[in-house]
Amino acid sequence: MAAPQPAGSIAALSQEAADCRLCSLCETRRQVVFGSGNPHADLLLIGEAPGQEEDRQGEPFVGRAGQLLDGMLRALQLQRDDVYIMNTIKCRPPNNRDPQPDELEACHHWLAQQLALLQPKVICLLGRVAARTLLQQDARLADLRGCWHDYHGIPTLVTYHPAYLLRTPRDKSRSWQDLQMLVGRLNSASAAAQHTA
Ligand code: URA
Repeated sequence: MAAPQPAGSIAALSQEAADCRLCSLCETRRQVVFGSGNPHADLLLIGEAPGQEEDRQGEPFVGRAGQLLDGMLRALQLQRDDVYIMNTIKCRPPNNRDPQPDELEACHHWLAQQLALLQPKVICLLGRVAARTLLQQDARLADLRGCWHDYHGIPTLVTYHPAYLLRTPRDKSRSWQDLQMLVGRLNSASAAAQHTA
């Protein structure tokens, strides 16, 4: 059994979530994929849901889409340990179907607590499901990307999901434009932090 973690920490919340039975995905998942990376990072990336490989390994974005995500981070001079990565829902939907509204609603319990503990300076939403769920907008991804949104006071950018980019490489140049916006915002957030330190 894992050692108990300090109350109010991301590690303690992750231990609590490991036994979650708030929706029926607990019947089919192998394990809860809570999130990974640096809990003190400025940048939080939020994807859709764990896939087969993530369900097996217990970490988000470890399959083919994850390899592309790593490449996107490298292009920003970032590594996994410089960011925190998680999903809108924490358990794999059978056959990788889209998360259902009741699953999204049940899992919001964990997502809201993660956000309260992580307090990122910038959020990047990867793909339609994350964008629609967090921004509560029933819009096309193409209409949500390319501008800044506000998620509970945190500047939030929407971009393509890496799995979509694997299928549609022609949109990689648009994704690159989004990443440049992200870098600009992260740089100004860290400059402001240095100024007040
Ligand atoms: N796709 C996601 O949205 N999340 C993962 O963790 C893996 C693939």
